[in-house]
Amino acid sequence: MQTLADQPIQGIRSAFLDFVGDPFYTDDASSVRYISDGLLVVENGVIVDFGSYENLRNHYTNIPITTYSNNLVMPGFIDTHIHYSQYEIIAAYGEQLLEWLNKYVFPTEKKFKDKSHAKKIAALFLDELLKQGTTTALVFATVHAESVDAFFEGASHRNLRMICGKVLMDRNAPSYLTDTPETAYEETKKLIQKWHNHNRLLYAITPRFAITSTNEQLKIAGKLLQEFPDIYLHTHLSENIQEVQWVAKLFPNSLGYLDVYDRAGLVGKKSVFAHGVQLTDAEFERLSEAKAAISFCPTSNLFLGSGLFRLSQAKSNQHPVKVGLGTDVGAGTSFSLLHTANEAYKVMQLQGKPLSAFKALFLATLGGAQALSIEDKLGNFEPGKEADFIVLDLHATPLMANRTSRFPAQSLEDLAEKVFGLMMLSDDRAVQAVYIAGKLAHSLATVL
Ligand code: GUN
Ligand code: ZN
Repeated sequence: MQTLADQPIQGIRSAFLDFVGDPFYTDDASSVRYISDGLLVVENGVIVDFGSYENLRNHYTNIPITTYSNNLVMPGFIDTHIHYSQYEIIAAYGEQLLEWLNKYVFPTEKKFKDKSHAKKIAALFLDELLKQGTTTALVFATVHAESVDAFFEGASHRNLRMICGKVLMDRNAPSYLTDTPETAYEETKKLIQKWHNHNRLLYAITPRFAITSTNEQLKIAGKLLQEFPDIYLHTHLSENIQEVQWVAKLFPNSLGYLDVYDRAGLVGKKSVFAHGVQLTDAEFERLSEAKAAISFCPTSNLFLGSGLFRLSQAKSNQHPVKVGLGTDVGAGTSFSLLHTANEAYKVMQLQGKPLSAFKALFLATLGGAQALSIEDKLGNFEPGKEADFIVLDLHATPLMANRTSRFPAQSLEDLAEKVFGLMMLSDDRAVQAVYIAGKLAHSLATVL
């Protein structure tokens, strides 16, 4: 088993981009950190120093240094909402949320009772994430405990920081996918004890959404959160109009969709809600007050025809809500957070509020880390954080090379222009290498 404590000191020399503040609330000069010739020093999987090569070179004359010239090194991307069990049904034609769940999702999730199937898909899924530069994700498994074991075994084998949980569903789903409040409690508790803080793994209590859990089951989820206060709550919220209407019928005494979760004790600072497309103003305010997070899933919201997430309302001065980007595969159409950022830009264009590349890349890195409350561990190159980072090639294709001719960038404006090109034009071909806890875990150049 790999651990964080088995690596000699090493350096990476390249151009670096990360965030030290939130560009939604401060100007680029105070939130973006760009070092055109920098040195990242890593030991035992952790960043021990970071700065300009010129300033640091004399301190590290005897360490091995890997140089990536003409590249841009960034913190690994963080996907704040994705379903590993939907790997095989990405790009399923023609339906909106509720029909899509019945027609495609539930039948495919049934297969995860079989641990060998779950292990096979977990391996494909985790390798795909790495290939796309995603080093951490908040992940839905299925209702089966076996699916959680298979996922965490695969993540642990790759030494990844991943968050996952067993799905809770006790109604409005096929019987082959339902549990009960009692089994939800027992199985979740066992899985928390087995996996939470095992290596780099963290657990999320995962009721699918208000439609597929009785109030009794939601309350069980709340009870678990009280028993294990540092565990996450991960669910879907206000994605689609028909869904919101059905929730209102199922919970006639609630003030609204978020209130259903609130009454069960599920809205807190470690709660992550996917979508939030149909939220009311009062619900945005409540999320802000509770310090809960929203996962903005643009490719999914477009693919299922759910609507346009109001990112500028979430990032308001008065009632700020933590936001990360989510691919939401299989409703999302790409594993790439660069591609997801591209679609986020278009979603915001349709609202007359274009999203700068710096803001989008913030959401994919430090913003995602804040949404998942792991900004003390990941999200930028601050010494003491875990050394998960990616090497991007802005010249990965002839088209990109032409668009981004001179690199490294000479100023912040120049960089903004170049990384916008990256965000609009690139895919996994631009992810040249991925390091996990300081070790090369994926490379386009080397056969590992
Ligand atoms: N709402 C409840 N379940 C799901 C799911 O699997 N995907 C999406 N996008 N929304 C959901
Ligand atoms: Zn989802």
